[in-house]
Amino acid sequence: MSSSARLAAIRAQLNPTSLFSSAASSQTQKTPTMSIPSTQKAVIIETTGGPEVLQFMTDYPVPTPQEGQLLVKNNIAGINYIDTYFRTGLYPSPKPEILGREGAGTVVALGPGPNPYNFKVGDRVAWLNTGGYAEYTAVPAAKTVKIPDGISDEEAIAGFLSGLTVLTLAKESYPVKKGEWVLLHAAAGGAGFLMTQVLKSIGAKVIGTAGGPEKVELVKSLGADVVIDYRSEEGKDWVKKVKEVTGGEGVSVVYDSVGKDTWEGSLEAVKRKGTIIWFGNASGPVPNIQLTRLSPKCVKIARPTLFGYIETREEFEFYVNELFKLLKSRQLKVKIHKVYPLEDAAQAQRDLEGRKTTGKLLLKP
Ligand SMILES: NC(=O)c1ccc[n+]([C@@H]2O[C@H](COP(=O)([O-])OP(=O)(O)OC[C@H]3O[C@@H](n4cnc5c(N)ncnc54)[C@H](OP(=O)(O)O)[C@@H]3O)[C@@H](O)[C@H]2O)c1
Repeated sequence: MSSSARLAAIRAQLNPTSLFSSAASSQTQKTPTMSIPSTQKAVIIETTGGPEVLQFMTDYPVPTPQEGQLLVKNNIAGINYIDTYFRTGLYPSPKPEILGREGAGTVVALGPGPNPYNFKVGDRVAWLNTGGYAEYTAVPAAKTVKIPDGISDEEAIAGFLSGLTVLTLAKESYPVKKGEWVLLHAAAGGAGFLMTQVLKSIGAKVIGTAGGPEKVELVKSLGADVVIDYRSEEGKDWVKKVKEVTGGEGVSVVYDSVGKDTWEGSLEAVKRKGTIIWFGNASGPVPNIQLTRLSPKCVKIARPTLFGYIETREEFEFYVNELFKLLKSRQLKVKIHKVYPLEDAAQAQRDLEGRKTTGKLLLKP
């Protein structure tokens, strides 16, 4: 497809009206407006594949916010492992697509109709949805919140999707109790770095796994009780180590976001009547499993996703308030691996998939 035909297809997918026509003009009576260009820088994918399918464009149409939406000028966007699942097609999604599930920036326009959350142009907000690898994103107001003073945009996004996820994992997927042994894989990653802190704050005894000595040191510095380098010769038999540490019993809960490579070990490492929370596929999806495999130890398995826990505005605000309290008080620390310029989105995904990162990757539009 030629570049102009491609753009025409993209435009047809987006709302064809200009920001300065119907939706925006209905706002001009009530809210101040900001100058909004008709095109922007964005990273799009047209097909599934490796990081090379990410295309940096400088003339991508700026979307028009529809009813229930806000147009946000992104100051920062988050990069999450889930972005790679949509890129590879592991998770199906319509193409062309702008990846990126979260961002922080300034509200520059409101869609027409009711404004139940009282947003106004100029608000500094964080949002969860899709389309973050861009300068401008039209986002649902229901999944957008104002960022409190005392938390920067970078801090908010370093903790937003990942932080909300770990709060739901520790409170709802499996309500972790003080004194319990917990096994957390990829403990130095974006979600892992925050989860280790949340688990320790509850008073759990944490066994973290991480690849390489630097990552191990990082997880230890967060207070994890035992950290295993599961890529080292010694740490390869991490199940044995987990059994040793827990007096042969195994752990009450395994938080497994690595998937394919750790799955069998996680089944072995969980104790009788224990729980496995499978919440990601960093090494690939877990193979099909015969449920009868769970019966000898009466094991429970859950496969949660953040968006399932924050569907209603009440649920969303509950977890956001909790998260912002922790971030503002610095009880929950964030770690930013690197802020990549928008045009380096492909490199950022390479680094993430290459296991070269700790903490959170951010993108600067
Ligand atoms: N269910 C949900 O709602 C939800 C929400 C957020 C995140 N997640 C999941 O949580 C996980 C972490 O996400 P994140 O964005 O914070 O990423 P991340 O943890 O920063 O990066 C993934 C980490 O997984 C580990 N890993 C193990 N085997 C790997 C392999 N074969 N290839 C690549 N990495 C491998 C690596 O750490 P080591 O080098 O230490 O092994 C790597 O750094 C992902 O699986 C993601 O899908 C799920």
